[in-house]
Amino acid sequence: MATKEKLVIFDTTLRDGEQSPGASMTRDEKVRIAKSLERMKVDIIEAGFPMASIGDFESVQAVAAAVKDSTVCGLARALDKDIDRAGEALKSAASSRIHTFIATSPIHMQRKLRMTEDQVVEQAIAAVKRARKYTDNVEFSPEDAGRSEFEFLCRIIEVAIRAGAKTINIPDTVGYNIPHQFGDLVGRLIENIPNADQAIFSVHCHNDLGLAVANSLSAVLHGARQVECTINGLGERAGNASLEEVVMSVQTRQDVFPCETSLDTTQIVPISRMVSTITGFPVQPNKAIVGANAFAHESGIHQDGVLKARETYEIMRAEDVGWAANKIILGKHSGRNAFRTRLDELGITFETEDELNNAFAGFKDLADRKHEIFDEDLHALVSDTGLGNNGYCKLVALMAHSETGSTPSAKITLMVNGKEVTATANGGGPVDATFCAIEEIVESQTQLQLYSVNNITTGTDAQGEVTVRLQKAGRIVNGHGADTDIVIASAKAYIHALNKLVRPEERAHPQHDV
Ligand code: KIV
Ligand code: ZN
Repeated sequence: MATKEKLVIFDTTLRDGEQSPGASMTRDEKVRIAKSLERMKVDIIEAGFPMASIGDFESVQAVAAAVKDSTVCGLARALDKDIDRAGEALKSAASSRIHTFIATSPIHMQRKLRMTEDQVVEQAIAAVKRARKYTDNVEFSPEDAGRSEFEFLCRIIEVAIRAGAKTINIPDTVGYNIPHQFGDLVGRLIENIPNADQAIFSVHCHNDLGLAVANSLSAVLHGARQVECTINGLGERAGNASLEEVVMSVQTRQDVFPCETSLDTTQIVPISRMVSTITGFPVQPNKAIVGANAFAHESGIHQDGVLKARETYEIMRAEDVGWAANKIILGKHSGRNAFRTRLDELGITFETEDELNNAFAGFKDLADRKHEIFDEDLHALVSDTGLGNNGYCKLVALMAHSETGSTPSAKITLMVNGKEVTATANGGGPVDATFCAIEEIVESQTQLQLYSVNNITTGTDAQGEVTVRLQKAGRIVNGHGADTDIVIASAKAYIHALNKLVRPEERAHPQHDV
């Protein structure tokens, strides 16, 4: 049997995914996600935009040092300073790529860049050449290709390949394209650019019209051999093409696609949950592949059919995307070694013994309250105990009271900048009272934009996971907290968000700040 061509999977959860408002991740969280992506055999991990901030630079550096089997990529505008910064951040990577880009649509060139076509072409050539000084593996993107003029795209791509770009990425930056049109665009580019055979063509689709996956797959049918995507479809605005949907479409419809990926798809559900826990972005129940209902059959007729022959109503096996991996792994009697080993397997490592001890103490406390501990609980626990995340404000104690006929109240003690402070407050309910008590102490003047509760696993002793979204002076952050007690989980989430807000992280946005 003839072997199929490879479809390269380029994951940008840590870069474009992090551009979702509120989805910021700490360095250690990024390393954990990157290790899981590596375990899933993702080919390329875009770890960040090193020029954005010191934090972004250090995250790319840390991912580059931690990951050995996947190529680690850093994003850079077509500017010397960005490319040098990316090259520096990627120094220790076993295999590195620099992804450089410049906008090519008339509206972006005229209104954003204020540059002529000739100037954009010159800058693109210079950027690719400079990036090649750091690595042979350079990717070039004409940003907003989906709204660029065909002749100009051909011109800039041809010179970018001549300058040394090995991958040409075609972004539908604003999610404007329709599948047949986008596939046709990619096919015509490959056909018309004389040196197209010297590069892999890639696509990067946004989901503004809900078509990111369809557009990506259409491009694959027209010759694209790399897809840029994110776990759970996270990303700028409506998000990017979802990795799990692209990969499972190609795997399930091998009768249609002339290529295949080399991913271990059984890692999909665990990593989807991990990303959801870390970012605080819940996965909708009816989300394809990773939603709680994706393999659930409610109607009697469907249940009956599936019991007789699974294929009657299921086109994929739940275990092939990792639903079975949701297993009980630890309990009350598990020791420190078992705990450390499982965390190692999940890609969670500790820099100091103190961090491990803290997390283990949290685990023992949880195991006293909760019979079975799942991987999801461990991810939540580690995020919760603040691995590498030393906030200015910590929860010390909380007492919340609610009773029919009386006003709910809360008394909370926080450690703020090393000093214990206590406050009490009333509220509409125990959670509201708790938030008011926290505000009595910190006076953050933030606006609560979102409050949501999900259970991490099932059962009445399950941990509730709370997401709190706060906004202050245009900055939006998500905080999350998990506990078997919802009020405590809520307090943790609020405090987590506050700690993110006070971090004086000034981040440049790759596409807005030129
Ligand atoms: O959407 C986009 O155009 C991007 C580029 C940086 C590839 O994210
Ligand atoms: Zn993008």
